[in-house]
Amino acid sequence: MKKGVALLLATVLMLTGCGSSSASTGTTAPAETAKETVKETVEETQTGAVSTAAATTEQPEDDGKKSAANAAGTETESSTDTLVIYFSRTGEQYTVGVIEKGNTAIVAEMIAEGTGAELFEVLPEEDYYPYTYDELTDVAKKEQNEKARPAYRDNLPDLSSYSTIFIGAPVWWGDWPMIMYTVFENNDFSGKTLIPFSTHEGSGLSGFDKKLQSACPDAEVLKGLAVCGNDAQNGQDKVRETVNSWLKELGFSD
Ligand SMILES: Cc1cc2nc3c(=O)[nH]c(=O)nc-3n(C[C@H](O)[C@H](O)[C@H](O)COP(=O)(O)O)c2cc1C
Repeated sequence: MKKGVALLLATVLMLTGCGSSSASTGTTAPAETAKETVKETVEETQTGAVSTAAATTEQPEDDGKKSAANAAGTETESSTDTLVIYFSRTGEQYTVGVIEKGNTAIVAEMIAEGTGAELFEVLPEEDYYPYTYDELTDVAKKEQNEKARPAYRDNLPDLSSYSTIFIGAPVWWGDWPMIMYTVFENNDFSGKTLIPFSTHEGSGLSGFDKKLQSACPDAEVLKGLAVCGNDAQNGQDKVRETVNSWLKELGFSD
């Protein structure tokens, strides 16, 4: 059974193949206009009207990266209005073997370095996710089928301090991992500019932007960035270049 599910997923991944995309990084290029909002696209499609809501990303005030925002209840004095929220797994992952730092974690750190943002890692309250890839795919599929909302550890930092929030995760079965929906639904992202990013092995952004917009209708969701997980692990120079040029398009300087 486990083998069957994993094989099915492996087939899907092989058919779409990360490395087959144009860029040698296997990174899905950000939309031409990185600042175009998902809401604009949705509204255009639905009503023909173009939203006037401006999605702006502001220049961070300083370059000092702060981390450890996870400390529950700890007031961290913030010098940036940008936050990076991410979920990522270590252990055995597809195509990269056993990893000590998750693919998405690597990209999240690059974004934090490029923007001066603080980092918040979404960690499961009870870490029941298996270490081996095959078993993890089973658990993730079950959560997806059940529309589970797994609890996460610690509170997000006070969101009133942030106007721009990058949100990233691995693609799991063509979707955000269910624990991310817990984050979307348990926090008030209204009025924020949300910028999704994924790591994946062939599925790209997998509609992360539209799904995030549906979960957080009062936020402005920008088009996101998809990075091949294997490249994040093994081709970091190229991925860093891609991330930095994407950030530049969004209005963050080098
Ligand atoms: C449970 C599970 C489901 C996955 N589903 C997909 C998928 O649908 N499409 C895809 O391209 N990659 C899929 N992958 C591959 C991951 O998205 C990819 O390896 C990612 O970079 C892992 O990131 P992490 O190390 O931050 O967890 C899946 C991996 C796991 C463990």
